[in-house]
Amino acid sequence: MEDKLQSILEGAQQGAKDVATRAELEAFKARLVGPKGELTQVVKGMGAVPKEDKPRVGRALNEVKKTIEALFQELLEGIEEKESAARLGPPLDPSLPSPDGVRGSLHPLAQVREEICSIFRKVGFSVVEGPEVETEYYCFDALNTPSDHPARDLQDTYYLPENARFGNISKKEDERYLLRTHTSSVQIRHMLKTPPPVRVVSPGRCFRRDTADATHSANFHQIEGLYVDEDVSVKDLKALLDYFIRSLLGKDARTRFRPHFFPYTEPSFEVDFSSSHLRKLGSEWIEIAGCGIVHPSVFDAVGYDREKYSGFAFGMGIERIAMILHGVDDIRYFYQNDFRFLQQFAR
Ligand code: DAH
Repeated sequence: MEDKLQSILEGAQQGAKDVATRAELEAFKARLVGPKGELTQVVKGMGAVPKEDKPRVGRALNEVKKTIEALFQELLEGIEEKESAARLGPPLDPSLPSPDGVRGSLHPLAQVREEICSIFRKVGFSVVEGPEVETEYYCFDALNTPSDHPARDLQDTYYLPENARFGNISKKEDERYLLRTHTSSVQIRHMLKTPPPVRVVSPGRCFRRDTADATHSANFHQIEGLYVDEDVSVKDLKALLDYFIRSLLGKDARTRFRPHFFPYTEPSFEVDFSSSHLRKLGSEWIEIAGCGIVHPSVFDAVGYDREKYSGFAFGMGIERIAMILHGVDDIRYFYQNDFRFLQQFAR
């Protein structure tokens, strides 16, 4: 019996080499585990095995079954990979010269992102990035956002299917992967690997189930800031954001803080700004950022000493800033790749 199992296994390993399509995989499976399959015959033959040999033969049978199941899985993955590569078509050659000889230029959103980062770099911030696929832990739990918070709702958040796998992003067994709804998740990732003091900004792509209109897009960009040290106060936060707004929008720009709520900061504020540039566009105050003093529970989650350290955090939308800076009145222009629009930002 065991010899037979061994020869079935070897036959299967040999036969697997000829499996390239789903139909071939199905035929291959039928040959082994179908109603008349080789392995099925062995299972049926177990009744005739003498009682004292049963445990040993049973174990050998289970081993072979497991190996063969793994082989099926491996073949299926190989086939799926080939199918998705076929769907993607031939690889793009980015080294090909542009047919009309036009030099490339950074996308307006990338230009604004770089401008924002450089303002923060001047005062000692570094730029860090985090993954766009996140787990509930980094996007919500560690940010003191309870499981019944509306932001976690399927209405607002894109969750990935339960069987989705991302080898480079670890998650707990019962957690779901999602597309990050804000760049605040990078705060957590950064603090978990860096002891205080911290001064970072983190730009990147975010996703929410918004219906697209002139000011909303399901895919947009934010920049997150985090400052942690001893004795950090709201005064420091206000001074930094004032510096930022003036660098970006001119010396006469000013900010106004309104009380707000975010689970990960206490107190929390929304920040509006006003400037002569804005008045030309016809408004007095425009909201530009959310911010606050880092909630002690966030420090607990990342292992920072809540007695010794304090900090502030802020987050803002890059599209909104780009729209204000350039007088763009519809967010969708940024994503349509219309050359007539993009060309106006060529540098
Ligand atoms: N995460 C917020 C949003 O997506 C923005 C934000 C608000 C970030 C307050 C912060 C903060 O770090 O402290 O709207």
